[in-house]
Amino acid sequence: MDEIILIAPDSSKSIISILMRRRSVRSFGKTGISLKEVSELLWAACGKNSDWGGRTAPSAGATYPLEIYLMAQDVESLVPGLYRYVVERHVLSLVTKGNPARELSGACLNQKTIINAPATVIISADFNRTTTRYGDRGKRYVYMETGHCGQNLHIAAESLGMGTVMVGAFKDEEVKKILGIPEEVLCLCPVGKNEEK
Ligand SMILES: Cc1cc2nc3c(=O)[nH]c(=O)nc-3n(C[C@H](O)[C@H](O)[C@H](O)COP(=O)(O)O)c2cc1C
Repeated sequence: MDEIILIAPDSSKSIISILMRRRSVRSFGKTGISLKEVSELLWAACGKNSDWGGRTAPSAGATYPLEIYLMAQDVESLVPGLYRYVVERHVLSLVTKGNPARELSGACLNQKTIINAPATVIISADFNRTTTRYGDRGKRYVYMETGHCGQNLHIAAESLGMGTVMVGAFKDEEVKKILGIPEEVLCLCPVGKNEEK
């Protein structure tokens, strides 16, 4: 009941034409998004693409410090709430029901795009997974991985006629408290149908 099985990804888009069009998108269509769209976005961001557990985004020493969450406001088949993307099984696991978009937007220096988006992908990290292996240098690896994952998400959004923007301006502790998650939040990426074209 609290776990949603996601839809397997589809292939067949030219990466070059997608990269030519990519822009940050901050205003979204009024309609919600489908479970298929959410499934592809999350899988592209950091989904599993090999039997041994390898993912779409590289990870220093395969330590995989990132945890991806979805704050769903208007997504088909999902009650509004915060979900964790379980990479290993390509499912969403409900963390908390509710819609904290307004508080989140406030903690992101009042960026309204968080309120207007039907969903927001949150990239967070457990730094220990990487720093226990690489020491202090592991921190920079985690930031690099956030970039990989974020860019994957931008490319996937563009390929689906959707858009996103990396929101890095926010109050760390406030966002963490609103979401109630143990990991450190590194960026928030509101997603939705691209209204800017
Ligand atoms: C690390 C990082 C943090 C960013 N933070 C924000 C943000 O808080 N709000 C926002 O609207 N855009 C943010 N952006 C998006 C940039 O403003 C945007 O990438 C830049 O203006 C270039 O435009 P383009 O992405 O359309 O090419 C951020 C981008 C990066 C890479």
